[in-house]
Amino acid sequence: MTLLQIMPEDAPETVRVRTHDLDVIREELLRIGVRFARWHAARRVPDDADDSAIMNAYRSHIAHVSAEGGYQVVDITRMTPTSIDPDSPQQRHPARETFLKERFHDDDLVRFVVAGAGCFYLRVAGQVHAMLCTAGDLLSVPSRTVHWFDAGARPSYTAIRFFQEDNGCAARFLPDSIAARFPTLDDLLATS
Ligand SMILES: [Fe+2]
Repeated sequence: MTLLQIMPEDAPETVRVRTHDLDVIREELLRIGVRFARWHAARRVPDDADDSAIMNAYRSHIAHVSAEGGYQVVDITRMTPTSIDPDSPQQRHPARETFLKERFHDDDLVRFVVAGAGCFYLRVAGQVHAMLCTAGDLLSVPSRTVHWFDAGARPSYTAIRFFQEDNGCAARFLPDSIAARFPTLDDLLATS
């Protein structure tokens, strides 16, 4: 279920806001210049839909967001537990370690979650906003916002990504990441 949890950046155990209320989430994120919206597909999208079926189902939404934000590149990203080494069930997803590092980009961070769940941690104005997005959620984060991402130990996450530039997702990592002090996606789900 979609969730926003806000914690001070220097006190991860202190929960200032924890809500599933979509209107409250929208308001809290607007305070930090982040847009949150819900999309409905033009037709039902099956779990095993390929990229073109997904693009078709959300075509009018994609066109609108691209025009509004000047996004030239739209693609689809997927994380699945099948990419974990089957001989080592405890192994972390290879991409997970990288996504868990604090970073920022020159491009906006615009994601629409098609299936599964992923948590975006936005560090703004002394607070960490852990925004757990599920299918149907659109998140638009301004460029250069410090963030990290987690899809959990057994990731199930499909999202449409929007970029202004081809190389927009090149990340600049922060030397002293605070990410490891904060609850993971699995921690957040366990307490919901
Ligand atoms: Fe990123």
